[in-house]
Amino acid sequence: MSIISKDIQKAITLLTDEKLVAIPTETVYGLAGNIFSEKAIKSIFSTKKRPFFNPLIVHVPSITSLEEIVIHIPEKAKLLANAFWPGSMTMVLKKSDKIPDLITAGKDTVAVRVPNHPLTLELLKQLPFPLAAPSANPFGSISPTKPEHVERYFKNDIEMVLDGGSCTNGIESTIIGFENDEPIIYRLGALALEDIEAVIGKVLIKNKKEQSPDAPGMLARHYAPATKTLLVDDISIEIKHHLGKKIGVLSFSNSLNDNSLTEIILSEKGSMHEAASKLYDSLHELDHLDLDVIIAERFPDNGLGKSINDRLQRATFSL
Ligand code: TXA
Ligand code: MG
Repeated sequence: MSIISKDIQKAITLLTDEKLVAIPTETVYGLAGNIFSEKAIKSIFSTKKRPFFNPLIVHVPSITSLEEIVIHIPEKAKLLANAFWPGSMTMVLKKSDKIPDLITAGKDTVAVRVPNHPLTLELLKQLPFPLAAPSANPFGSISPTKPEHVERYFKNDIEMVLDGGSCTNGIESTIIGFENDEPIIYRLGALALEDIEAVIGKVLIKNKKEQSPDAPGMLARHYAPATKTLLVDDISIEIKHHLGKKIGVLSFSNSLNDNSLTEIILSEKGSMHEAASKLYDSLHELDHLDLDVIIAERFPDNGLGKSINDRLQRATFSL
């Protein structure tokens, strides 16, 4: 029997009972549990096989809920919250004593966001506690953007995926922290850097491939298909190196018109937003075709293209 359901009351019952429910957001599906339940939080880590040093994002229904969770909100954080919440931005702020150490991996900061999905906002409003929710995928693998992706990963581990359809933005939230009240991007994501800078001016980016990162979304290999994946500027040149192989191609907007390979075009009209929304679903699809290699095209290095390139880079990093 399918674990995918639209029954919000059932989700409330399970979460109140310290169980996990996968929830839809506009970025990716999250594996959610009560932030105050040690049992629920531990099972988030064990279900995902996620190391305990990797802290979780707390999801709240509105900006006002922030006051109970953090002790200091820099001016620029207020501007950002007003501009982009509900939405695809996570802020890392100094945590209050109410937030369990398990959520933050012992750090004195907590990551928080107001997601922009009607079902999940409704759920958060009805629950008397916020939800911790990492992306609903096993550690290191491709994030889920459809309920079926979550079901494939976790049908033996959780009782319910709250069905909110396909995620409209399709890549994880942009994470912003503050050092001496000045904003720093820890993870590029579904909210473009340019949109953030339009509100608060220039921000620093610390989104590098470090091995022991502040935000493990920064690990060099992450969001990765099982199939060998390459990221190139010109696919037509690269395929010549793989003659006779089963090739999958992920292009931005142009077709190679080559019947000998499997091709997915992310946005025929050249929209980066559409491309981002289809990125993970396309990687999931190609990864299940038993191909020898997936070749992805590098995006223009601006707007959401920067975030898409970041994810493709991590998907293609070989160990
Ligand atoms: O779009 C999203 O952000 C999705 C949806 C479900 O909201 N969630 C998500 O969570 O991507 P997750 O756990 O896969 O990624 C959260 C990232 C991790 O890289 C984690 O290290 C970072 O947030 N993070 C959490 N707390 C942090 C903190 N206190 N300081 C720095 N980074 C933190
Ligand atoms: Mg993740």
